[in-house]
Amino acid sequence: MSIVVHVEASQLARFERKLLAFDAVYDVQCKEPLLFVKFAPNAQEELIRLCFQGRIAAQRVYQVNASCSDAGWIAWSQEMNKDKENRVFKVMAYPNHLQQKLVEMIAHEGFRVHPKDYTHELHVVYAAPLFLFGVIERNGEFGHVDEILNVPCRAYHKLAEALADCVPFKDGYHALDIGASPGGWTEFLAKNGAHVVAVDPGEITVHVENIIHLPMLLEQAFDHLKTMKKFDLCVCDINIRPHKMAQLIASVAPFLHPNATVVLTFKLSRRPTQTAVDEAFNSVCKTLSKGFHEFKLTWLHANTINERTLFAKKKAFV
Ligand SMILES: C[S@@+](CC[C@H](N)C(=O)[O-])C[C@H]1O[C@@H](n2cnc3c(N)ncnc32)[C@H](O)[C@@H]1O
Repeated sequence: MSIVVHVEASQLARFERKLLAFDAVYDVQCKEPLLFVKFAPNAQEELIRLCFQGRIAAQRVYQVNASCSDAGWIAWSQEMNKDKENRVFKVMAYPNHLQQKLVEMIAHEGFRVHPKDYTHELHVVYAAPLFLFGVIERNGEFGHVDEILNVPCRAYHKLAEALADCVPFKDGYHALDIGASPGGWTEFLAKNGAHVVAVDPGEITVHVENIIHLPMLLEQAFDHLKTMKKFDLCVCDINIRPHKMAQLIASVAPFLHPNATVVLTFKLSRRPTQTAVDEAFNSVCKTLSKGFHEFKLTWLHANTINERTLFAKKKAFV
């Protein structure tokens, strides 16, 4: 088995160094934006975990152990045809446009395919002139790695790290997740006992209890929020500049309890200088200082190179 790691193009060289620093890796070939990695037997689980950790994390990891020059052959391969009638496949392919074609092709050949309720993943990477592929059992040999791959997005780990000292939440804890789709943060909050109101026009793909989804922009949700119990926690992971995010957070202050905690991801420009980070922090503190205090900016392991995480508390008396 070897793996193919899809990495953001600007991070390729750093990611390659990160992989080569791992003893079990003995070869990495780079073909932007992919890294083809060969490694010692038994190291796969740890290696995949490494790929999803830290500031420079992989977008996807494909596990491949077979190849062919005609994609049509994949459906006839031994890997695909073992116990065929008891399997449901999720297809993960690179490049993206291959994905739908493969889904249609294997469905046409009588395989069952489902993006969420599946027993096996089919990983395919086109590396001209070959198609590399592998079939991975869900909850199989690499069950807990599979768990990592199946959280809705990497964002989950950001909030898990940010709130590690606050969970499980006390009974009746009420959280507001702004910009919640596809649902990584919402899932983390709900799994740890919070009642979550998730605001996002996008779909929430997680299936946990205690979630109310308001499928709209925050700016359109105020009439709903003002009828609800006040929130103990407000989290926001929207891709907007920090000063805009500060304005959004100021607008929800009336819906938060005194002393409520706020956790925000700052999305800064690429490779921000320390001065740029400080400027963003100061501008956000200034916008929010009337209603909030105890500002703290951290660079979590799960933050990317251009992200920081801001913590604050709502003032008890404004
Ligand atoms: C980076 S994603 C959030 C990922 C999410 N934290 C998770 O864990 O799955 C940003 C989301 O913010 C949403 N968004 C952007 N502007 C918004 C707004 N004004 N109100 C609500 N949601 C917004 C987008 O629709 C998008 O789904």
